Amino acid sequence: MPYRRPRGTQDILPAEAAKWQAVEATFREICERFGYGEIRTPMFEQTELFVRSVGESTDIVAKEMYTFTDRGGRSMTLRPEGTAPVVRAYLENGLYAQGGVQKFYYLSAIFRYERRQEGRYRQHHQAGIEALGSLQPSLDVEVITLGLTYLSAVGLDEVELLLNSIGCPRCRPVHREALRAYLRDRLDHLCPDCQRRFEVNPLRILDCKVPTCQTATQDAPVMLDYLCSECAEHFTAVRKGLTDLEVAYTLQPRLVRGLDYYTKTAFEIAHPALGAQNVLLGGGRYDGLVEQCGGPPTPGIGFGSGLERVLLALEKTGRTVSLSPRPRLYIAAVSPPERVQAQQLAWQLRREGLRVELDHEGRSLKGQMRQANRLGAALVLLLKEDELAAGQVTLRDMRRGEQELVPLEGLPERTIRQLGHSHRW
Ligand code: HAM
Repeated sequence: MPYRRPRGTQDILPAEAAKWQAVEATFREICERFGYGEIRTPMFEQTELFVRSVGESTDIVAKEMYTFTDRGGRSMTLRPEGTAPVVRAYLENGLYAQGGVQKFYYLSAIFRYERRQEGRYRQHHQAGIEALGSLQPSLDVEVITLGLTYLSAVGLDEVELLLNSIGCPRCRPVHREALRAYLRDRLDHLCPDCQRRFEVNPLRILDCKVPTCQTATQDAPVMLDYLCSECAEHFTAVRKGLTDLEVAYTLQPRLVRGLDYYTKTAFEIAHPALGAQNVLLGGGRYDGLVEQCGGPPTPGIGFGSGLERVLLALEKTGRTVSLSPRPRLYIAAVSPPERVQAQQLAWQLRREGLRVELDHEGRSLKGQMRQANRLGAALVLLLKEDELAAGQVTLRDMRRGEQELVPLEGLPERTIRQLGHSHRW
């Protein structure tokens, strides 16, 4: 086989796709319940958008973007995250002019050139939300609870919510200097990546997973102790809001997100069944991003959740997700001449909304019945020449193992009734 799919990507085959559909449908349903509307943005954007918003020194921009020059000589990048494109669309379409809080959700493919490991892909898919236009802590609480509701609705309850505040451009520089002063004597103990981070983004060192870095930074000053009064008050209100709703969380002063646009609230939801890549969902506030992208000062908050990781967690915990099982109707032709009527009837019933299968491989009647069984068909219509001539067909209920002769007239209504209200799926 000369061709293979690119490293770090997946083919989602029908059996697996059914699970994806179930998770995606659940996410949509929960978002709509919380008042979020879908937004779809292009799969690629001007490179500069991501460089400026995600930040030049981040791993994403420095090492992981799929960037190319298009035929017009412009630098383009496959979407490496979902927030900047939403902010760009919000500005470009003048949505800020409508005022108030605007709430969006998306299901998007995301591209990052990552080192291959479990739970990490070069094309992954995020279920994400963004809420723009309010600094109220109640919005932080809404965004976090939406994430928890979604995970619980797909069957992941035993998750851990990790919470931190990473301050704002006013209080962060003070902490950064304190952190640098602390780390200066410990530079030798840091991994090469962190030695580079020391200059450009020392905060990220706190989040490094390399054990020597973790030991070296054990008592490092954390942002929480340096919050300005505005950030501290905001964080207290977010914590109170969560407590008022009896949402449990763990304060995680070392939680640092990997993108530069974050301010104030930062959070992650992790699952114990996953290994190193155990974060199912991550997000936070980005109160300066809209302005940085050329818009009016507008606060924002959101999260992104990897669908692959959610599915992996479901698999590891032995949960199954699926849409309600789809009853099927199978149309069998007893002899070759009835195949024409089988096709006519199949088309008619499919247009009526029924899920219908029939043979395309010239199977015998026995072969067709076997196929109907394999597909899990609830009903089988048997088309026989003499019965058809009398305007009738045999309808076999596969679950009960009973069959009866029924008139062709009114057949769609009859089968729909028999399959119950969920026949459309
Ligand atoms: P992020 O933490 O980079 O944030 O990604 C969000 C989630 O996407 C992660 O928690 C993880 O579940 C999943 N994820 C990330 N990278 C991969 C990968 N290589 N393979 C599989 N899954 C992955 C963002 O992207 C922000 N835009 C989230 C956000 C929205 N913040 C505010 N609004």
